[in-house]
Amino acid sequence: MIEFQHVSFSYEKDRPVLKDLSFHMEKGEKVGLIGPNGAGKSTVMKLLLGLLEGEGKILVDGKELTRAVYEEVRRKLGLVLQNSDNQMFMPTVYEDMIFAPLNYKLSREEAEARVDNILARLHLEDLKYRYNHKISGGEKRMTAIATILAMEPEMLLMDEPTSALDPYYRRIVINTIRSLSQTMLITSHDLDMILDTCSRVILLSDGTIAADGAAKYILYDQALLEKHHLELPLSVMGREKETSAGEPW
Ligand SMILES: Nc1ncnc2c1ncn2[C@@H]1O[C@H](COP(=O)(O)OP(=O)(O)O)[C@@H](O)[C@H]1O
Ligand SMILES: [Mg+2]
Repeated sequence: MIEFQHVSFSYEKDRPVLKDLSFHMEKGEKVGLIGPNGAGKSTVMKLLLGLLEGEGKILVDGKELTRAVYEEVRRKLGLVLQNSDNQMFMPTVYEDMIFAPLNYKLSREEAEARVDNILARLHLEDLKYRYNHKISGGEKRMTAIATILAMEPEMLLMDEPTSALDPYYRRIVINTIRSLSQTMLITSHDLDMILDTCSRVILLSDGTIAADGAAKYILYDQALLEKHHLELPLSVMGREKETSAGEPW
């Protein structure tokens, strides 16, 4: 579904941000892309959408990503940006959400039904007619996710989807991600969320892949995570404590 073949990228000359990156993702896979600040996670997302161009090859559905196919590929990939402010261009939540479905030639009734359905699923009905510039950061993040879901993309790229969310919204996002069957690439520092949603993890550090494997191995590997300025997910730490306390079960 997605393949990076020897991809390198630098914003500035002689300062490589991604170094010869290769990985592939199967259809339906949910992959967590983790790594310290500045590792290059957001850059990977932007390359996939053709917002940046690097060296090497990126394939989406077997097709090489070139200018000629950007439009087609962007339709398949829904991206939730790290900064949701950059993603809203209509005055209200409803107008933002219905824009793409109308563009995809759904009737207004069909498009509005789709919007209402997603708002209900994310418990955001009350935000429907609110102005985008008058809602809170967490609400913006939620409506950005809702807007992407309304596009029904084949694949979702989520850059820090739970940052800025309170525990209530965070849980809704986690449950929503778990209920979706789309292929997903999710970046986050919220490793508990990654453990809850992804079966596979790619650890990116200093522009290269430091580890790629099952979430239940990588996210339990304290030495590996700490080496890359990350910490064990809280739920895993809890379990470690239980074991080391030597409970007599
Ligand atoms: N527009 C830019 N110009 C120059 N350097 C950038 C730009 N955007 C990001 N960088 C640098 O590229 C590196 C990777 O950034 P990024 O992909 O945003 O990392 P992450 O999302 O993993 O925190 C960082 O060192 C960052 O400072
Ligand atoms: Mg980032």
